[in-house]
Amino acid sequence: MSARVAALIPAAGSGERLGMGAKALLELNGITLLERAIRCLAPLCDEMVVALPSDQLGFELPDVVRKIAGGTTRQETVKRLLEATDADFVLVHDAARPFLPLEVAHNVLSAAKEFGSSTAALPAADTLVLEKDGNWEMLIDRSNVRAVQTPQGFDRILLLEAHQQAVTEHWEATDDAGLVARLGRPVALVNGDPRLFKVTKPGDWALAQAFARVWDAENR
Ligand code: CTP
Ligand code: MG
Repeated sequence: MSARVAALIPAAGSGERLGMGAKALLELNGITLLERAIRCLAPLCDEMVVALPSDQLGFELPDVVRKIAGGTTRQETVKRLLEATDADFVLVHDAARPFLPLEVAHNVLSAAKEFGSSTAALPAADTLVLEKDGNWEMLIDRSNVRAVQTPQGFDRILLLEAHQQAVTEHWEATDDAGLVARLGRPVALVNGDPRLFKVTKPGDWALAQAFARVWDAENR
């Protein structure tokens, strides 16, 4: 029997920095960020679980999607999502990244199947420096620097172990690959994509609104 894959989508945040309400449920060119994430992941998985704010569980989603209530932190939300599936592999992808090229998701999943753990990560395009007191302190060699994105792919048991360890050891990480790395296990890096930018602040929202039309024209 072939390995089962679940897409897990954390969409339970309150979108405080954007300041427009539950971020995942906002529409870009008529389609919510969440629905965009769902559409991108659907071709790759056997099941899909979405975590929503507990007062949004009535939000209408395609029938194939299971809904659960998220936790108070992203980490807690992902743990709940993990506990809601028994798939062999999971792809964790933030609803806050609405433009996910299929190729990236495919490559992340392949690497997860091969190495147990993987994430999309983007080489730095800008010059990177350390700042001190508002001034240029020191140049960072950017050749080995990567900005970590989602999707991230895992052997489900491995990620569950990382989350359980995080609870006992009080680890906090902004993403799941960070917890697996903390466990001392390798995380394969797969080429990310600038279109995978995270909608975090009003400037990102403006970009996302403009880009949605381009994306939708290319992905009919
Ligand atoms: N998320 C979640 N549960 C939480 C917090 C965040 O499912 N308790 C999700 C968000 O919905 C988002 C992703 O994790 O898809 C990345 O989080 P972020 O961009 O920080 O979104 P918010 O937490 O909603 O935004 P903010 O931090 O500005 O409040
Ligand atoms: Mg947040």
